[in-house]
Amino acid sequence: MAKRKKRQRTVGPSLPPVRAGLISPTRRVPADIARPPYAETGDPGPSVAPLVQTPENLAAMRRTGAAAAEILLRVAELVRPGVTTDELDRFVHEASVDAGGYPSPLNYRGYPKSVCTSVNEVICHGIPDSRPLADGDIINIDVTLYREGVHGDTSATFFVGDVDEASRQLVKETARALQLGIDAVRPDGLVNEIGQAIERHARRFSLGVVRDFIGHGVGTEFHSNLQIPHYYERRLTSRLERNTTFTIEPMLTLGEPDALMWDDDWTAVTLDGTRTAQFEHTLVVAESGAERLTVTPAGACAHDLMLDPAG
Ligand code: MF3
Ligand code: CO
Ligand code: CO
Repeated sequence: MAKRKKRQRTVGPSLPPVRAGLISPTRRVPADIARPPYAETGDPGPSVAPLVQTPENLAAMRRTGAAAAEILLRVAELVRPGVTTDELDRFVHEASVDAGGYPSPLNYRGYPKSVCTSVNEVICHGIPDSRPLADGDIINIDVTLYREGVHGDTSATFFVGDVDEASRQLVKETARALQLGIDAVRPDGLVNEIGQAIERHARRFSLGVVRDFIGHGVGTEFHSNLQIPHYYERRLTSRLERNTTFTIEPMLTLGEPDALMWDDDWTAVTLDGTRTAQFEHTLVVAESGAERLTVTPAGACAHDLMLDPAG
């Protein structure tokens, strides 16, 4: 194994690093719930789905996206010191099944749980386990629901108790970076304008932009071939056709954005141990620009809670 290069944390609170806890037994999904193709084998196979949605699929994605947004709003209410990430997993699993859906992460490429919970320096794909949340933590909860043959993928980062000022700013500016990425979308516009807007905002606040994980096409498949970097990629000259569905999900860091993978082959952490935040929406390219699919019928989402602390 390669020796881990250790660097001093430059910014943010000095709390002990996140360590893996115990992972609970696999949760079951009732037989009458429709499953995505990878549910049994873990293998999603090659991406074959078109990037542009039919009106029927788009209507289904609105409903599934709204249900995912509701689950994220409800799990957010459980976030407090002492709650384990496994308890959050149980809630998301049961809420997904109660909504008549399948929690998309479960057995996707062998992922063992129903939601991703990424704490502090964990960039993404944190596996829920027995670790209780501690006062001062930040946690990203990434909910994806499969229902009516389509996925809705959305995440937000939340505060656990009393959080330091640097982390609060990181979280708020990451939420704003997603909003700016969304605002950059226009029909037949360049994909790279999204990353350009996000990177510009990050630089303004001296935040890093993670390059190892990017947004993606989503629809009947969890991850399709369309790639959405959150940094400016000059050579990326592809354009976004109307009715294309995809995610934007920037991960920003207080320190360097370089990532390191844990031995579990899922948990990605910052190499320098500094904190990182992420927000994600599933979107469709509409005439007026990107329309968010992962909002409630009233247009609400968990992101609003973090952008407007009064709300
Ligand atoms: N929801 C994540 C994303 O935004 C993917 C999680 S894959 C899993 O793309 F297997 F870890 F669940
Ligand atoms: Co995603
Ligand atoms: Co996600």
